[in-house]
Amino acid sequence: MSKIHIAYATITKHSKKLAHAIGERLYVKPDNILDKPLYEAVDLLYIVGGIYGGESLPALIDFVKSLDNNKVKKVALITSCASKIHVQKTIRTILEDKNIPVIDEHICQGSFLFFKMGHPNKDDLKEAVDFAFKLSER
Ligand SMILES: Cc1cc2nc3c(=O)[nH]c(=O)nc-3n(C[C@H](O)[C@H](O)[C@H](O)COP(=O)(O)O)c2cc1C
Repeated sequence: MSKIHIAYATITKHSKKLAHAIGERLYVKPDNILDKPLYEAVDLLYIVGGIYGGESLPALIDFVKSLDNNKVKKVALITSCASKIHVQKTIRTILEDKNIPVIDEHICQGSFLFFKMGHPNKDDLKEAVDFAFKLSER
C-alpha cells in the first residue's frame, strides 16, 4: 500500500478545510506545516496552500525547501486562491530543482474579503477531494 501524507499551510483556514476534506476521503490525518512534520518514505505528498500577493506563504516555501527527495517520491499541489488563476509557482520550482516530480495541480476557488465570498464551498471541496482521490488510485 502506498504511503500518503497531506501537508497544509493556511492563513484564513481554507487550506485547512481542504486538507481535512481530502484527509477524510483518504483516511490520512493532515499535517499543519507549523507542526513541522517529518516525513519518512512518502509515495505521494499533497501540499495544500493558498496564494497571497501572488505568492505562497514563506513558511510553506521553507517547508518545501526542507523536503528530502530520497524520502518524498512525488507531490500533488492543491492551490486555493481567489483569482482561480494563480498557481504555486515557487513551490513547484523548488520541487523540480530537487527532482521531486509534481504530478498535478488543482486550483480551488478561494475568496478574499468580499470577492468570491463563501468559497471554498461544498462543491469546491468535493472537486478537490475527487481530484486527490483519483491521483491516490494511480
Ligand atoms: C493577504 C491576502 C492576499 C491574497 N492575495 C491573493 C492573490 O494574490 N491572488 C489570489 O488569487 N488570491 C489571493 N488571496 C486569496 C487567498 O489565496 C484565498 O483566500 C485562499 O483560499 C487562502 O487560503 P487560506 O485560507 O488557506 O489561507 C489573498 C488572501 C489574503 C488574505
